[in-house]
Amino acid sequence: MTRLLLFLCLWLSLWSERVLGSVLAIDYGADFIKASLMKPGQPFDVLLNRDSKRKMQSTVGWKHNDRLFGQDAASIAGRFPLDSFSSLKFLQAAPYGSEAASFYASISTADMVQTERGTVALRRSDGTEWTVEELIAMQFAYVRELAESTAGEKVSDVIVTVPPYYTQFERDAVVDAIEISGLRTLALINDGTAVAVNYAMTRSFPTPEYHVIFDAGASSIRATVVEFSAASDSKSKVVKDATQITVHGIGYDRYTGGTELTRRLRDLLLNDFQKRYKRDISNDKRAMAKLWKEAGRVKTILSANNEAQATIESLAYDLDYKGKFTRAEFEAACKDLKLHYAVPILEALAHSGLKLDNITSVILAGGASRTPMIQDAVKAAVGANKLAFNVNADEAAVLGAALHGAGLSRQFKTKDIRITDIGPYDIQVSYQAESKQPGARPRTINSLVFPTGSKTGTKKTLTFKRQDDFSVKLAYKTPPLRGYPTDFLEAEIVGVGEAIKNLTEAGAIDPVIKATVMLSESGFASLRDAVATGEYKDDSLTGKLKDLFGKGSSSSASVDETTADVGTAEADSTATSSSAETSATAVSKKEPIPLEIDTKFPTISPMSVAEKRIGRDRLKAIDAEEASKRRREEARNTLEAYVYRLRDLLEDESTEAPFVKCSQSAERKAISEKLAETYTWLQEHGDDATTMEYIDKRTALESLERPIVHRYKEIEEFPQALNNSQMWNWSSRLFLTDARQNFTKELEAGLPTKYTKEELDEFEKVLKEHESWLDEWVEKQKKVKMNEDPVILTSEMRARAKVLENHLQKLYRKRAPKPATTKKSSASASSGTASTSTSAGTSEATSESDTASAGSSSSTGAASSQDPHRHEEL
Ligand SMILES: *[C@@H]1O[C@H](CO)[C@@H](O)[C@H](O)[C@H]1NC(C)=O
Ligand SMILES: *[C@@H]1O[C@H](CO)[C@@H](O)[C@H](O)[C@H]1NC(C)=O
Ligand SMILES: *[C@@H]1O[C@H](CO)[C@@H](O)[C@H](O)[C@H]1NC(C)=O
Ligand SMILES: *[C@@H]1O[C@H](CO)[C@@H](O)[C@H](O)[C@H]1NC(C)=O
Ligand SMILES: *[C@@H]1O[C@H](CO)[C@@H](O)[C@H](O)[C@H]1NC(C)=O
Repeated sequence: MTRLLLFLCLWLSLWSERVLGSVLAIDYGADFIKASLMKPGQPFDVLLNRDSKRKMQSTVGWKHNDRLFGQDAASIAGRFPLDSFSSLKFLQAAPYGSEAASFYASISTADMVQTERGTVALRRSDGTEWTVEELIAMQFAYVRELAESTAGEKVSDVIVTVPPYYTQFERDAVVDAIEISGLRTLALINDGTAVAVNYAMTRSFPTPEYHVIFDAGASSIRATVVEFSAASDSKSKVVKDATQITVHGIGYDRYTGGTELTRRLRDLLLNDFQKRYKRDISNDKRAMAKLWKEAGRVKTILSANNEAQATIESLAYDLDYKGKFTRAEFEAACKDLKLHYAVPILEALAHSGLKLDNITSVILAGGASRTPMIQDAVKAAVGANKLAFNVNADEAAVLGAALHGAGLSRQFKTKDIRITDIGPYDIQVSYQAESKQPGARPRTINSLVFPTGSKTGTKKTLTFKRQDDFSVKLAYKTPPLRGYPTDFLEAEIVGVGEAIKNLTEAGAIDPVIKATVMLSESGFASLRDAVATGEYKDDSLTGKLKDLFGKGSSSSASVDETTADVGTAEADSTATSSSAETSATAVSKKEPIPLEIDTKFPTISPMSVAEKRIGRDRLKAIDAEEASKRRREEARNTLEAYVYRLRDLLEDESTEAPFVKCSQSAERKAISEKLAETYTWLQEHGDDATTMEYIDKRTALESLERPIVHRYKEIEEFPQALNNSQMWNWSSRLFLTDARQNFTKELEAGLPTKYTKEELDEFEKVLKEHESWLDEWVEKQKKVKMNEDPVILTSEMRARAKVLENHLQKLYRKRAPKPATTKKSSASASSGTASTSTSAGTSEATSESDTASAGSSSSTGAASSQDPHRHEEL
């Protein structure tokens, strides 16, 4: 049993979430995935894949242990027919054994098994099983990675296109795949509607226009009648620069699309081969996979040519296959389909109550709309003058979806395009009537809440008069397609007895249960909430007065309206409340009591949270494994590159090369031997070693090279370090001389001295130590050869200079003692930089401005007083 909360988390997020950051749009087709990324401040376009292609095949597969996507995954089908998974869209939410599943079996070589939910999973050659949701999630995750590397940031929100006829089961399967992939669902959008958004992007509609979006894809053909108009607000006022898209009708044929054409052509090739060689190869998975691929290629050629040559090397029994096919033959094999192509348009028109005359144009979209026989059929049905080729057939849907997604996220400045879409099926609520006499057989009541064509994004309130907990079922009135169940959701409303009792005890008149059902923007029907509510006699004086004047007379009637045991589906929740308001003058309402809802999925259930978590973990495990493979590759490449670099260093004979200058021949010999050993090891174990082994081998070599590098670095560093030491030595000496002079003068003048004698003696001692250390070790270092280790380190030189510097700065920062007189302070201010001791005034005054400037002047002073001591370089 899933709690309402989880249920809501899943579905509410579809329309209520506000997002920050990029928005990803995915058009997941049976043949191709197209994606688009909306990133604030970036031009928006179709996302390119790693081969810079604008679309990629909807295929995931494995070559041994390497997972592949797109073209790479599709092209291995002939060799690994159990490990290459295409056309998965046909299997979304398909019950095992359904018509949809057997259609899939006729086009795929994959091994189908049944999941616990009764849907389909696919079994790889290694025996592992993957649900359709997981396999699609892998592709979504792959697209997410592409998007993230393009955006340079994390991408989590996605809008996905779905055919308008998708049932709740199928929509759930899409959302489940999104969640397993680690993305968040911003919304689902019907693909015809997405094309309409793309169409409206560059156009405006001062007068309303009706168009048909004819979308012929790989899986199916669908037609959507849309109205484009200027958008208006709730008060019917036109909103400037805003476009309203209203869907009025849809029509579709689930199995007449590009894939069915490929299947017909595949059978032509298959029959031709079998007839010629008198062999049945229909159970040879490799051969069937090769035939499928070749049929796809031949189909493309026949779209533009009158004949095509099929060629498959070693198709089966070591036989090469060659066959020639004409477009006429192909079309003859598809003759029966011809009747189907244009039917969705007529259905959509009928559904919308419009005539062809009302339609401005039929906009062609989808890859299969380029197929001549499909185009001809549409032309024959609607007339050539109505055909419009003014959107990009491949990309209009994904670009429209991206624009809509960006609008939902509200952080982009996009054209204001509003959508009103419709539900494609009759959805009813069923429940059992409360039995009047005990023991009587309960009557089931069905109430149509969202008839076909209902607007999405609407709510309805149902009113029940109940004393006890009861269940409400949401179901399609008829099976949405053959082999599919009708019921999709069962909600038990819990806690009714107590709530009604409390209300009654509080004085409520005929308390009732009100439940809200919703058809979301993304096409999901759900029971959102349920409350117990009642009305109370107003005992206050004003209430009684109102009663006296008769206005409250309709109160009982209002309650009556909703007391009927039959739940009445009212047009809108606002309608309910407004009718209640007018009659509630003498009857006050108190806070309704919210009731708990337990949701169950009686037939094809969406994946549970636990199942999705398992799927997510499985995907993460693959990601982790792939990442570790990449690290291993990296470690190997780094080792190899290092080996080659060392070899080059060793081979460089010139005595000027730092590596040669700073190394001894014994060291070079050791490196050379280790290098040879590593080289041999790479030859023998290079392919199967672990990441650690590569790293260890490199570390061993590096430890031999390190002393040489170290010497070279020290030699490079030395002049600067020495310069630095001498600079502090020199500035300290200057300071000391100056300070001692001042000291003497101050004493003579009977003034307080700035520094004590001890301070100056102490500093002199530190300075002398530094000088003698420097003298001694610089001498020693000068005798060291380049290919020997240095006797002092530049780091130590800098550390010692730092000690001196700190000491000096401390003295500089010392405040001058309070002078006896304060008259001539301004004269000294200009000499505050302490740059030279000779020009500075001596006894006139002790500087007062010391406090602020001394700290900084000490360092700038030291630097600017730099005398160009020249030291020979070593
Ligand atoms: C459709 O066209 C008919 C005439 O062919 C016209 O009477 C009707 O008003 C049109 N409907 C709409 C919605 O424009
Ligand atoms: C009913 O009233 C009791 C007592 O005030 C309270 O504890 C309980 O929570 C109430 N139940 C509901 C469903 O409001
Ligand atoms: C020492 O430093 C001074 C000042 O920064 C600079 O002009 C001189 O070139 C340096 N000498 C060496 C050997 O780095
Ligand atoms: C340090 O400075 C003093 C005085 O300027 C100088 O005589 C001595 O040679 C210097 N020592 C070194 C190592 O630079
Ligand atoms: C010595 O005295 C002069 C003049 O008062 C002053 O500018 C200078 O900073 C003093 N020197 C030291 C090292 O304190």
